[in-house]
Amino acid sequence: MSSESMPSRGAPIKSVNLHIGEIVPGVAKVAPIIVADNVTRTFGGLTAVDVKHVEIPRNAITALIGPNGAGKTTFFNLLTGFDKPNTGSWTFSGKALAGIPSFKVARLGQVRTFQLTKALNLLTVLDNMKLGARGQKGENMFVALLPWLWRKQEAQIEAKAMELLAKFKLDTKSGDYAASLSGGQRKLLEMARALMSDPTLVMLDEPMAGVNPALTQSLLDHILDLKTLGMTVLFVEHDMQMVRHIADWVIVMAEGKIVAEGPPDAVMQNPAVIDAYLGSHHDQDLGEDPDAEENIHAMKELLNADDES
Ligand SMILES: Nc1ncnc2c1ncn2[C@@H]1O[C@H](COP(=O)(O)OP(=O)(O)OP(=O)(O)O)[C@@H](O)[C@H]1O
Ligand SMILES: [Mg+2]
Repeated sequence: MSSESMPSRGAPIKSVNLHIGEIVPGVAKVAPIIVADNVTRTFGGLTAVDVKHVEIPRNAITALIGPNGAGKTTFFNLLTGFDKPNTGSWTFSGKALAGIPSFKVARLGQVRTFQLTKALNLLTVLDNMKLGARGQKGENMFVALLPWLWRKQEAQIEAKAMELLAKFKLDTKSGDYAASLSGGQRKLLEMARALMSDPTLVMLDEPMAGVNPALTQSLLDHILDLKTLGMTVLFVEHDMQMVRHIADWVIVMAEGKIVAEGPPDAVMQNPAVIDAYLGSHHDQDLGEDPDAEENIHAMKELLNADDES
């Protein structure tokens, strides 16, 4: 992202003093929304997630960063009930969540979007939105027999969907099939849909990936707005400039583990983070390994981001 695409409405107000005591991986937070302990997930011989302890601060924007394959998406899948851990437990707003399926997690107010968008192509944009509403009265057998109750609710849901679509500049497309949207519009739709359920925690897996630069600014503003509205955001992102710009707190994963965390500026100067991006390629001829090149690129981005402040 170029510096020209940075916000027109000035630098965002950062939330500070989120942690308690010395900043080490797993540091306690003043008001954690998620507290996870000993969460592991293995695939065959590979340990994709191995998180001893982590706390996500409430009503703040936290970025989860780390090289490709670090386990970020897998950790998201576990926290949202889309996958089951081998070991571990965690709480969301104090409620134990391990083993709770994804639809119930969403009803409790913890929603997520996907690295590869999951908009339903053969439904219209509006119908995709309606699927995001929770606790629909029509789903209840008894209420389903009383059409005047659910018709009223249906109208309310539709009004709310249209309001959100307008906010995300998708209202003119409400009758179009989701398949006809661009990659960036699908990302916006997914985010708008997530908001249909009035969540308290919004988890975004690479919200900027594949988004046209013309849309990145509005996406950034939407994410900042969520915090203003009292929500908590946890997002995975490779774009370090965006991380630095909007995150209040950064958590770094590498090889399944939390290797560093802290406010963006401090984290990006942390040697453990630069190490994580170099990964296990230290002693290899980096020029011949495409993975390593990607990691080096990410690290350079980190360092560049540093220079620009
Ligand atoms: N369903 C699966 N079966 C086997 N291995 C998997 C599966 N899902 C993830 N993995 C492996 O687990 C590791 C972590 O993957 P994950 O997708 O969580 O990484 P990530 O940090 O999200 O990476 P990226 O930044 O590329 O999205 C990788 O080595 C990946 O190949
Ligand atoms: Mg991922």
